[in-house]
Amino acid sequence: MTLTIIKKIGMLIKERKTQNQDKNEKPEDAYVQRDKIFIKVYRGNSLRNDFSHRYDVFEIPVSRSTTVLDALMYTKEYVDSSLCIRYSCRMASCGSCGMKINGIPRLACYTKVSELKGSTITCDPLSNFSHIRDLVTDFTQFFKHHKDMKPYIQNGNANLDPSNLLEYIQQPSDLEKYLQFTYCIKCGLCYSACPTVAMDTKFPGPQALAQAYRYTADTRDSTPTKDRLDIVDNKHGIWRCHFAGSCSKVCPKGVDPSLGIQLLRTQLLSFSKHQKKTAILKDIK
Ligand code: SF4
Ligand code: FES
Repeated sequence: MTLTIIKKIGMLIKERKTQNQDKNEKPEDAYVQRDKIFIKVYRGNSLRNDFSHRYDVFEIPVSRSTTVLDALMYTKEYVDSSLCIRYSCRMASCGSCGMKINGIPRLACYTKVSELKGSTITCDPLSNFSHIRDLVTDFTQFFKHHKDMKPYIQNGNANLDPSNLLEYIQQPSDLEKYLQFTYCIKCGLCYSACPTVAMDTKFPGPQALAQAYRYTADTRDSTPTKDRLDIVDNKHGIWRCHFAGSCSKVCPKGVDPSLGIQLLRTQLLSFSKHQKKTAILKDIK
């Protein structure tokens, strides 16, 4: 039953994404071959309490496989070494190179310049994060929301005896309920795209809420469901989501945080109903 609901909501969201596809961007298979591009980069240093900023434009040689991160690294190496960027894996795994590219939150290492329209590419720091310097933002608040969800399996019956360790048996159908949410790399793109986070910094955001669902759905976790749901069931919590769907649209790993939020809401609603029934029965007694 739950799997059918997951699949139905997933299909509805996919349909919606296709309808809303940004008409200003070329489809992914339409490459633009260029020898050079102009990269327009946000410059500013909020650490010095100087909140003024400017844009610098750099001319960079590119090939078909050049990514935006390659272009920024070229800039830093050969044009302006003071440019501040953050990256690590260069293969869409670590989640550190998130930025707004032509206004849309993306991973710089996962975005080829040949996929973008126009000869000038604009890079801005992610929205909804405190700014540090140039394209680098502060993830403290984002990670706090993630930690608030207790993003780990808690099992009081776990056998910790190293000489007698046992595996936890889980059916493939149990795994399917939450598998896609394990692919999250905590890049913060969904958080940056979320209009509710922009209005309320206490709102956990799509990433944290999707992880809250991921652990309530995991059959290896023995935490009472109510304890996990209580974390998100408050005035700054899950009910503030207006289902804009922008989080799912920008996720580079195919995670669908808005689906996670809907499934968590379904759990909360069925849980409340059950609680109500129990209360009424108690009253009758
Ligand atoms: S859900 Fe997607 S966009 Fe959001 S933090 Fe995880 S990987 Fe990034
Ligand atoms: S550098 Fe790791 S995700 Fe881009």
